[in-house]
Amino acid sequence: LQKWVVMVTAQTPTNIAVIKYWGKRDETLILPINDSISVTLDPDHLCTTTTVSVSPSFEQDRMWLNGKEISLLGGRFQSCLREIRSRARDLEDEKKGIMIKKMDWEKLHFHIASYNNFPTAAGLASSAAGLACFVFALAKLMNLNEDNGQLSAIARRGSGSACRSLYGGFVKWIMGKEENGSDSIAVQLADEKHWDDLVIVIAVVSARQKETSSTTGMQDSCKTSMLIQHRAKEVVPKRIIQMEDAIEKRDFPSFARLACADSNQFHAVCLDTSPPIFYMNDTSHKIISCVEKWNCSEGTPQVAYTFDAGPNAVLIARDRKIAALLLRRLLFHFPPHSNTDLNSYVIGDKSILQ
Ligand code: PMV
Repeated sequence: LQKWVVMVTAQTPTNIAVIKYWGKRDETLILPINDSISVTLDPDHLCTTTTVSVSPSFEQDRMWLNGKEISLLGGRFQSCLREIRSRARDLEDEKKGIMIKKMDWEKLHFHIASYNNFPTAAGLASSAAGLACFVFALAKLMNLNEDNGQLSAIARRGSGSACRSLYGGFVKWIMGKEENGSDSIAVQLADEKHWDDLVIVIAVVSARQKETSSTTGMQDSCKTSMLIQHRAKEVVPKRIIQMEDAIEKRDFPSFARLACADSNQFHAVCLDTSPPIFYMNDTSHKIISCVEKWNCSEGTPQVAYTFDAGPNAVLIARDRKIAALLLRRLLFHFPPHSNTDLNSYVIGDKSILQ
């Protein structure tokens, strides 16, 4: 039995869409019905860390998520693995005296250990960070030559939103036109330094797993909602152009209005689905009212809110001063251990409390 092991560890932050992806035109290739735009969070906060290892002594591919073994047999993991293996190249580790030939990768097996430093499947885009990290780490291990755009198309096959986590800053997932999905990739609109005044605060309303997965939710919406087609064809294309412009100019009022309107329309599509999908709860609605009242009283938006497929609020403050005020307001309206189920805050930048 040969004893060597080669390992790679990667870390990938999650991303939060400010113009949402909801609905697929191809379920297998994971091709969306509209473009989307997201902001990638700071890697110090919500992120996945994945270590992939390969050894001739491994008898099968195995994976552990947060210490618990999970099955790799699902179609999504398998299509990512297949795509990566098919692009693998020779790998030479001179120090260890190891040489893995391109064709050897087909026979070798992987052990993959992944950790999320935040609740899994609770609408905090854990699958985005997880699948992006899975693809990135395996691509490094198998010495792929692909750039992040090409890797994003592989990550997309694992979880649509994962393609946007291959880049930092503001990222657009272009829906693409090709039937084979070759042009459905993520591109970076602006890097993490472009608009670093923004502070993201996540109010964890519930860390429980969501009842309707995004996969099932999207399928049901595409089958039964009339609003979803109007959204994809008439609303999102215009919003994408306006959002790109707001990001380029660091125009917070436009950014906030678009992000809030888009989150609300996504949840309206969920309500327009049969049976209706309720991702937000009373606490989520109270947070929206609180932010709307504040923005209205100031005459211009101070904070943007957006909610994914879960009740947790992602709040984007225009700067650190506003973020500190936001936290005070949240703590006042939703004191910890009160009868609301808002149980913790994940703070984008802890220094705002000092
Ligand atoms: O990629 P999925 O299947 O986890 O879907 C993500 C859907 C939303 O988070 C609601 C929106 C988005 O664009 O991330």
